[in-house]
Amino acid sequence: MSSTTDIPEERPVANSSENDPLLDHSGDVTQDERNIWFNLIADSAGLAQIGIWVFAALVWSNILAQPIILFTAHPLLASSALLLQIQGILILQPTTIEKPSQKRTGAHIHYTIQLISTILFLAAFTIIEINKGSHPRLTSTHSILGLLTVIFVVLQSLFGVVQYFLPELVLGSVDNGKKVYKYHRWSGYVALLVLEIPAAIWGATQTDYSIAMLHIPLWAVLTAAAAVIIGVGARIRKQKLGLGN
Ligand code: HEM
Repeated sequence: MSSTTDIPEERPVANSSENDPLLDHSGDVTQDERNIWFNLIADSAGLAQIGIWVFAALVWSNILAQPIILFTAHPLLASSALLLQIQGILILQPTTIEKPSQKRTGAHIHYTIQLISTILFLAAFTIIEINKGSHPRLTSTHSILGLLTVIFVVLQSLFGVVQYFLPELVLGSVDNGKKVYKYHRWSGYVALLVLEIPAAIWGATQTDYSIAMLHIPLWAVLTAAAAVIIGVGARIRKQKLGLGN
């Protein structure tokens, strides 16, 4: 089984502009020999962590203050899955070809976290479908965004497995596997922004149930989401998305 990290993914960069983060320079984390887990809090990752943990705390505390029923597991699992998605992104963002061993370790941690996250999303989906019973389905914005999120996460995970573990078998070569990395990154960031975070915001604050029972303040959830978006966005490197030279 070959891995595309056996071969450098990005050319070594001499020009600092190639590593410019997408939003500003505050997230230009230079990876050094420090512990890879530091990636989870380095620079603007700390802001993203505050956002996602505040969001999870709001959901968990409000849900667990309600009677525990089958439904309880849905928001707990879904918010945990989203929390893991953010960790999976943050651990990998600063890894570069200049530190191949950290890049490989980062990839291993990334796919392990994303696998668990995908399983949690599927479990959250299964629970809500069982809980729905004979009630009508896909009747709210949240339910549609939520279903699209689950479908996307499964496809994105499969795409990741193909490009990393099966590039020769499915894509014809390890090189072809490397070439599609940037699409995996693009789709991951875009879906986080337009599907996963909105699904979670709507779920926590805009469903009939959350309006009637939870009363989680919309401003708090939006502030937490903004912290996640800015924290993650500031660390995106244009070069890794195929933008710039
Ligand atoms: C990104 C995370 C989430 C995903 C992917 C997700 C997914 C889904 C899906 C697919 C459904 C629709 C079931 C159907 O109609 O067949 C649903 C329903 C529901 N979800 Fe979530 N969910 C997420 C987060 C949350 C959170 C944080 C809450 C907080 C309370 C929540 C509360 C609900 C409720 C109350 C329903 C039933 C009402 C409705 O269908 O709109 N969800 N979810």
